[in-house]
Amino acid sequence: MQSIISIQNVGKTYAGGFTALKSVDLEIERGEIFALLGPNGAGKTTLISIVCGITNPTSGTVLADGHNIQREFRAARSKIGLVPQELSTDSFESVWNTVTFSRGLFGKAPNPAHIEKILRQLSLWDKKDSRIMALSGGMKRRVMIAKALSHEPAILFLDEPTAGVDVELRRDMWEMVRGLRDNGVTVILTTHYIEEAEEMADRIGVINHGELVLVEEKHALMQKLGKKQLTIHLQNPIDTLPQGLDAFGLDLADEGNQLVYTFDTQREHTGIAELLRALNQQGIEFKDLHSSESSLEEIFVNLVHQNQHARQPAG
Ligand SMILES: Nc1ncnc2c1ncn2[C@@H]1O[C@H](COP(=O)(O)OP(=O)(O)OP(=O)(O)O)[C@@H](O)[C@H]1O
Ligand SMILES: [Mg+2]
Repeated sequence: MQSIISIQNVGKTYAGGFTALKSVDLEIERGEIFALLGPNGAGKTTLISIVCGITNPTSGTVLADGHNIQREFRAARSKIGLVPQELSTDSFESVWNTVTFSRGLFGKAPNPAHIEKILRQLSLWDKKDSRIMALSGGMKRRVMIAKALSHEPAILFLDEPTAGVDVELRRDMWEMVRGLRDNGVTVILTTHYIEEAEEMADRIGVINHGELVLVEEKHALMQKLGKKQLTIHLQNPIDTLPQGLDAFGLDLADEGNQLVYTFDTQREHTGIAELLRALNQQGIEFKDLHSSESSLEEIFVNLVHQNQHARQPAG
């Protein structure tokens, strides 16, 4: 099936000469929830702005549902709803009028029933006559989402949707996003909350210094997540691993003072008992055991870190 968004070779160098995106290739599949993770300044908002036609790329092309975002802007843009990171919400207008007006901007016929539905879904119905400026921050963010959904887009971009949103509301929002996906909407979100990506996403992309350093199915990542390490601190250092331990795939660390055993927590049988027995048989004594688990957060930090080192000039 053709992807709903196709990003090919997209690069962006801002007027001042700063390169925010190098050469990004990314295909977003129809109906998925895709989470884009990355530290501040990685290029997430820049990428979203390009796909939404707000910023022009320096190179490359973007297709939204088959339409070229530059050459067929209106057709491409009408498929997309965008909730921007920066809220522009000091309006005197009412919630109802603001959301209704947004729909009109896309040339769609009025549909009060649709507006009512999304306001209710977002728990904004009792605020429909309030002025935007009189709402709390979390409510304003929900109004932005209502605006983005007003023209029934097939693709929804959420740039930091839950920044500054309380825990309960965040859960409601996740629920809503899942509901949208169930109705066939493709959702791309950026977040700094790793657990949000873990909870929501079908696939995860990590961007750093304008480069996509990883794109993976969440479940595949979770398997990496399921990896645990047992570090065995030896009484006496060893030079080489005895053959009797081959089956465990151990690594020697800390100049032969440590054995590192990596195992899968999702397997019922970890093999730790056998390993300790085998060590005993080989006459290898140890003084301490230490286990650690890699989280998505760790994978993320490592990736970002590696990428940073790779960038530093040698020497
Ligand atoms: N209009 C602009 N002119 C020049 N540089 C810009 C402009 N907009 C963004 N940048 C730079 O491009 C880089 C990427 O910014 P971007 O907003 O895409 O990051 P981000 O990943 O969304 O970060 P955050 O998590 O903080 O929102 C940053 O270094 C930023 O300073
Ligand atoms: Mg941003």
